[in-house]
Amino acid sequence: MSPLPSSASVLLALATLAPAAVAADLPTPHSLRQAVDGGAALFSHARFGSTRSYTPLDGFNRRPLTCEACHSGGGVGPGHTPDGSTLPSLQGAAARFPQLRGGRVVTLEQQIAHCIAGGLGGQPPAAGSAAMTDLVAYLSALSRGRPFAPQLPAPTR
Ligand code: HEC
Repeated sequence: MSPLPSSASVLLALATLAPAAVAADLPTPHSLRQAVDGGAALFSHARFGSTRSYTPLDGFNRRPLTCEACHSGGGVGPGHTPDGSTLPSLQGAAARFPQLRGGRVVTLEQQIAHCIAGGLGGQPPAAGSAAMTDLVAYLSALSRGRPFAPQLPAPTR
């Protein structure tokens, strides 16, 4: 018998490997519902390694800083930074990306990473990680039914 595997068995091995290889690239075997709910939980509670805290404008006790600290009501309500400047609701925000910020084209993921590194003082989850995917899913759900209006020029062809 030949020491080399037959082409048929190689093809069979490739066919059985392929779905596993694709699955390994996906963050987690989530349903969309789990991704959106997971993102909502991260939004309200995750610290991303930050040790910062803040005192709510209408409160006395210091609380740990999360997305929720600046983007109130799960991002639905109008928000404000800890120093009191107002922020618009995040409803519809995902539908406005990519957009230009400080002379750079920024995607939704990059905006989230910017808020975690800058606003929260934490370590942003890697692009394509389960946590980043869940946050994108949650913010996209907040734009459900909103007009898709990325701040981009029309295509040239
Ligand atoms: C310390 C306050 C602060 C925290 C905490 C914070 N953000 Fe933000 N966020 C801002 C500010 C200020 C802006 C306005 C744009 C900018 O300065 O980047 C913003 C803008 C955004 C936008 C774009 C809104 C738009 O209409 O274009 C998204 C999306 C967003 N934040 C998501 C998040 C998420 C998700 C988290 C938590 C992981 C978070 N932010 C945590 C302050 C914060």
